[in-house]
Amino acid sequence: MATLETQIPLPILDGHQHARPAYARGPRSIDSLRLLRISVTDRCNLRCVYCMPEKGVKFLPRTALLSPGQIETVARTARDLGVTHVKLTGGEPTVRRELLEIVRRLDAIGFEDVSLTTNGLQLNRLAAPLREAGVDRITLSIDSLRADRYRKITGGGRLDLVHQGIESARAAGFSRIKINMVVIRGLNDDEVADFAELAREEAWTIRFIEYMPLGESRVLEDFDGGDEAPGLLENHEVRSRIETRIGPLFPVNRASETGVGPAEVFTSEGLRGRIGFISAMSQPFCEQCNRLRLTATGVLRACLFDGGEIDLGPMLRAGADTASLAGAFQSCVAMKPETHSARGGRQMSQLGG
Ligand code: GTP
Ligand code: 5AD
Ligand code: SF4
Repeated sequence: MATLETQIPLPILDGHQHARPAYARGPRSIDSLRLLRISVTDRCNLRCVYCMPEKGVKFLPRTALLSPGQIETVARTARDLGVTHVKLTGGEPTVRRELLEIVRRLDAIGFEDVSLTTNGLQLNRLAAPLREAGVDRITLSIDSLRADRYRKITGGGRLDLVHQGIESARAAGFSRIKINMVVIRGLNDDEVADFAELAREEAWTIRFIEYMPLGESRVLEDFDGGDEAPGLLENHEVRSRIETRIGPLFPVNRASETGVGPAEVFTSEGLRGRIGFISAMSQPFCEQCNRLRLTATGVLRACLFDGGEIDLGPMLRAGADTASLAGAFQSCVAMKPETHSARGGRQMSQLGG
């Protein structure tokens, strides 16, 4: 396997490498890589205020997307390099027509865990086929439990369809469901305790995510004007509001939670489920970073925020020998920042979180 010193030159679009020895043994070491987040499309059937600007975003032509076979090739390289977990994202992954084929191909590679993060709108139709194709777990993004507010935040989404989707997921055998709520100050932060209550009745993990300012969005358009962290409500405040409602939270061992993500996970007396916090803004977890991202067009990214990226497209189109792809993975982890930047340039819909 090529080492960092011997790797061949690669088409690096952006990024820099500085060798900090301790970091090189951590996130910048290929040995630390556990998860590949694969965005299968930049398209979405919703228009969430925190994800897209007022004017909307221009979607990629379908011909620009990696084919299921190309995704499989990259995923095989990742598996060979020690990646055990795959997360399918978008845009909204369920709008990709070939999603089931992609899942079947990933399933055949033999990852420990293939999961999907979705808005849930199409799970009624897709939960059972996804399970059959090889998805192990589903995470749903829900940012309000009030139908009218949900419609406003998402630009027309129907919460009743999400509820039906959850029921279909349950019926299809998905038991370790996680719910993601992106908390945005002044928009939905009055609902955090209501979300936490879901963990009383259900054995779900309810996660509170600090809003990350990436690309353009209506949240940034509305809040901007000198605000250093627009829309942010820090998770220590979210936690205190939750504890006021449901009582003290006690940390659980993260290893007992499925997945290898950055959430800090808690339980409380009387909860069937769990409460998780993803505090990327107030407490960045970059020193534990264990993932790379693959965009729908085949760009491998070192970080969700700004960091290096390597376009695998030319290699894949040239027939992709495994050594060059593995070299690209090694170069990419070496570009990880020590801490993420304050804002990220790319649209979340292109990165998949
Ligand atoms: P599981 O726990 O395995 O379901 O995965 P996850 O929490 O990593 O994935 P999910 O797609 O549910 O993402 C939850 C939130 O965490 C989203 O807001 C992501 O953008 C964010 N997130 C996931 N990985 C990272 C990361 O490496 N860095 C940062 N800053 N945010 C991340
Ligand atoms: N900040 C934090 N989380 C976000 N997500 C989408 N945009 C943002 C953002 N700007 C979440 C989605 C989904 C996950 C993949 O990322 O709600 O649950
Ligand atoms: Fe890794 Fe970037 Fe996330 Fe930090 S922000 S954990 S470096 S992906």
